[in-house]
Amino acid sequence: MARRILVTGGAGYIGSHTVLQLLLAGFGVVVVDNLDNSSEVAVERVTAIAGKYGKNLTFHRIDLRDKDALDKLFASTKFDAVVHFAGLKAVGESVQKPLLYYNNNIIGTIALLEAMVRHGCKKLVFSSSATVYGWPKKVPCTEESPLCAMNPYGRTKLMIEDICRDIHRADKDWNIILLRYFNPIGAHPSGNIGEDPRGFPNNLMPFVQQVAVGRRPTLTVFGNDYSTKDGTGVRDYIHVVDLADGHIAALQKLFKASNLGCEVYNLGTGKGTSVLEMVAAFEKTSGKKIPVVKAGRRHGDAEILYASTRKAEKELKWKAKYGIEEMCRDQWNWAKKNPWGYGSPDSTS
Ligand code: NAD
Ligand code: UFG
Repeated sequence: MARRILVTGGAGYIGSHTVLQLLLAGFGVVVVDNLDNSSEVAVERVTAIAGKYGKNLTFHRIDLRDKDALDKLFASTKFDAVVHFAGLKAVGESVQKPLLYYNNNIIGTIALLEAMVRHGCKKLVFSSSATVYGWPKKVPCTEESPLCAMNPYGRTKLMIEDICRDIHRADKDWNIILLRYFNPIGAHPSGNIGEDPRGFPNNLMPFVQQVAVGRRPTLTVFGNDYSTKDGTGVRDYIHVVDLADGHIAALQKLFKASNLGCEVYNLGTGKGTSVLEMVAAFEKTSGKKIPVVKAGRRHGDAEILYASTRKAEKELKWKAKYGIEEMCRDQWNWAKKNPWGYGSPDSTS
């Protein structure tokens, strides 16, 4: 029988792409999401793209903090593993509303882990983030680099990593993989699913995309005095489909090794690209001019952040396939086909 995976936050950006890859790889998938930052349309589109595998996907609108709803779900369905994406992720908002972030991300995760214990499911893949490296003294960041959270969002990631390490220390039946994502961008090559942030986009490429389709006049570039090739911040951008495939590799590892413990892997490409290089690459693939306005540094931003990919390559047998050009091509394809994301001009701001 096909293995069944519970995917929390599976209607979101990375979740929807991962659910699709899971279905195509033959897994059964159950998504729980409260749709706080996503749309059920994404789930419908994933079902359609997956074709004959689409029937192996079911969706439940559940908030992770709703213990009774989670219990009912676990009681009715046996899961072989959980991939846990659900959480709030806007750094600036987390500074303004720390309790919202601690409540949603930490309490939601604890409720999930408790339900897993009650129902005997002890295999987990968790979405951590390169944000746990703070402003690294040395790049590339390896999994052993010092950890330092610079805002409440980052602290929720570090706390959840620590919780995972602790529960494994206490109970060796747990097998957990913590994946530290670098900067996922792009969209599925079909152009039917992609990132659709609510309100003002916090991240670079969703903003660029909205300028390209005429929803915003200019891109503000934060910082032009960093010690980088052109003065702008450098990041490790990774195609979201490559990132999604990293989860399949992680699950395969979890199913193969019964005493894996709690392991952490970077998911990135190992290459750094500046903000202005990203803008130029997007302009080239889209043929659209992106007017930029230069501004001061954004509080809490690191100068240069990119991954060492050696551990994931060696132990997960996973390596990103796509380059910046394909990331921009697929981002633009999604934007052109869906200038208002999953909504309409009236439903978005
Ligand atoms: P997203 O907002 O698109 O997806 C998160 C999903 O979780 C949303 O669909 C949201 O509705 C759901 N959710 C939030 N709180 C919930 C709750 N209490 N109960 C049920 N559902 C809930 O974000 P994403 O970009 O797909 O990110 C997925 C995960 O990866 C997050 O944990 C995020 O912190 C992490 N991450 C993202 C990035 C990035 O740049 N996108 C980088 C590093 C780590
Ligand atoms: N940037 C701009 N203008 C914008 C948005 C971003 O110049 O409008 C710049 C930033 O200053 C930074 C780069 O583009 O130099 C990338 O910024 P993003 O906001 O796209 O990404 P971050 O690296 O700041 O953070 C993202 C996610 C975090 C995650 C981290 C992992 O937002 O949740 O990647 O590396 F933790």
